[in-house]
Amino acid sequence: MTLPLRIEINGRWREGIVEPRRTLADFLREDLNLTGTHLACEHGFCGNCNVLVDGATLRSCLMFAVQATGRSIETVESLAGPGGELDGLQQAFTEHHALQCGFCTPAMLLTATEFLRDHPGVTDETAIREAISGVLCRCTGYQQIVEAIQSVARAQQTVQSLSPAQEAT
Ligand code: FES
Ligand code: FES
Repeated sequence: MTLPLRIEINGRWREGIVEPRRTLADFLREDLNLTGTHLACEHGFCGNCNVLVDGATLRSCLMFAVQATGRSIETVESLAGPGGELDGLQQAFTEHHALQCGFCTPAMLLTATEFLRDHPGVTDETAIREAISGVLCRCTGYQQIVEAIQSVARAQQTVQSLSPAQEAT
C-alpha cells in the first residue's frame, strides 16, 4: 500500500508516493537526499533528527511522512544562502566553536532558529539552555552553543534598537 503526499520543503512544494510507515526522516534523507537531517536513536530521545514543521521543531524520526502532507518543512539545508553563504546562526556557531563532530549541529541550528524567531533578542542563558535541552550533544558541553545563540540574540537587539531610526530616515 502506498499513499500520495505533498509537502512544502525548504520553500518548494514536493510530491511523492510513500508507504504509510515511511518516516519523515527517511523520506527527507533517502527520497530527497536531504542528508543534513541526522538520525541517531530513532526513537525520539536524542533530538538529532529535529526539523521545523510549520516553524516548530519536531522529531522527524517520530513523524510519518504522510502526516506532513500539506505542511511546511524546513531542514538545515534551508539555512545557507543560494551561494552557500552561512546564515547568521551558522556563522556564529563557527566563530564560537559551537560544534566539534557536528552530528548534532543541524538539529541545534534549527532548534535555535525557532528560539530566536519566537524570542528575538533574548540572551537569557537559562531560557536558551531550556530551548536546546531537547537536542543531545555528545561533544561540546553546550557552553559554546549557548554563547553562539546569545551572540545572534545580541545582534537582533541591535537591529531592533536601530529599526525605528532607520524607518524614520
Ligand atoms: S533520531 Fe529522532 S530523536 Fe533521536
Ligand atoms: S558537536 Fe558532536 S554531538 Fe554535538
